[in-house]
Amino acid sequence: MAKRVVLAYSGGLDTSVAVRWMIENLGVEVVCLSADVGQEGTLAGNRDKALGAGAIAYEELDLRAVFADEYIAPVIKANALYEDKYPLVSALSRPLIAAAQVDVARAYGADGVAHGCTGKGNDQVRFEVSYMALAPDLEQLAPVRNWGFSREDSIDYAARHNIPVGATKEKLYSIDDNLWGRAIECGEMEDPWAEPPPGVWQMTQATATQRTEFVLGFERGVPVSIDGESLALHLLVARLNDLVGSYGWGRLDMVENRRVGIKSRETYEAPGALAILAAHADLESITLERDLQREKIRLQHRYAELIYDGLWFSPLKEALDAFVDSSQEHVTGEVRLALEPNRCWVVGRRAERSLYDYGLATYDAADRFRHSDSEGFVRIWGLGVQTWSGIQGPGAP
Ligand code: ARG
Repeated sequence: MAKRVVLAYSGGLDTSVAVRWMIENLGVEVVCLSADVGQEGTLAGNRDKALGAGAIAYEELDLRAVFADEYIAPVIKANALYEDKYPLVSALSRPLIAAAQVDVARAYGADGVAHGCTGKGNDQVRFEVSYMALAPDLEQLAPVRNWGFSREDSIDYAARHNIPVGATKEKLYSIDDNLWGRAIECGEMEDPWAEPPPGVWQMTQATATQRTEFVLGFERGVPVSIDGESLALHLLVARLNDLVGSYGWGRLDMVENRRVGIKSRETYEAPGALAILAAHADLESITLERDLQREKIRLQHRYAELIYDGLWFSPLKEALDAFVDSSQEHVTGEVRLALEPNRCWVVGRRAERSLYDYGLATYDAADRFRHSDSEGFVRIWGLGVQTWSGIQGPGAP
């Protein structure tokens, strides 16, 4: 049995109760780690809560820049959207937090790591598979999955043990958010026919009314500037969340397939992420050669699935990263986006090494395309179909 564990600590009810529960029931010492991955709420107060619940130590890490540079940038380059829609908001932060827990575990000589996920979700899979990849020697603890508490039980337990939590008995939604977006589950959303109530949206309230435009600059597949102003990626994403979100755009409502076999109705808001991904894919349309672009589109589904399924640290993910990185060599340029209330779309793109050749594309006098070449090309291209038609198809006697 582990003697000292590092818990991924959000400061919420479950992880606060988990601190004391593990001390009492598993006889371990608990080190709490809170990570700033750009979530809305503040971590102020977490230290007191963690120590108040009985933790022997509390660590807080600002991981926003690392999150952007090492986790968000790869999914931008890959255009990774799970089931063609979800930009992997929660799926992306888990391997990062797991890696930070492993570092803290080493620093504290801990022999275990713990998370506060339930047994029904994807996040337990992501935490634990990441621990298994990075530190197979560490014991894994999942108290919330094992204790069998209802929400009321947890609140009563906290009250009995004087654990400071601000929770009330009815909590409507399960929310997880970070720099890359916000996931809202449970409550009314458990009925897939019911429209999400307007109150669930936080990042995407339309307050702006005037059409506007902005230009996103990319270098090798990563956004580096807005309207010519260079910005670190975590600041750029935050800026776009505010800008695009203020037009009320960037919401998702979907039923997705969880790793654990459940179909689950999920709502998300990810205004910055969805605008960046749309712009990036658009820039690729002029900078990637056709076969490379098509193969990349084929692989990006697999790439998103790996991340969703908790396989961030895996050999296939590593190999796909190498492919994606190589594909981005010339994905440098600018994309123009327009914003109107509830709408964000690409209105222009340009790149120094664009493969869009005006002389080949134009129908006007500058046309350099040799029309006569097409005659023989099309004859041979269609030869197989023509042969089939005359013998077995519509042209057969
Ligand atoms: N369904 C999403 C995912 O699996 C969101 C999970 C959100 N987590 C949460 N604790 N609310 O990535």
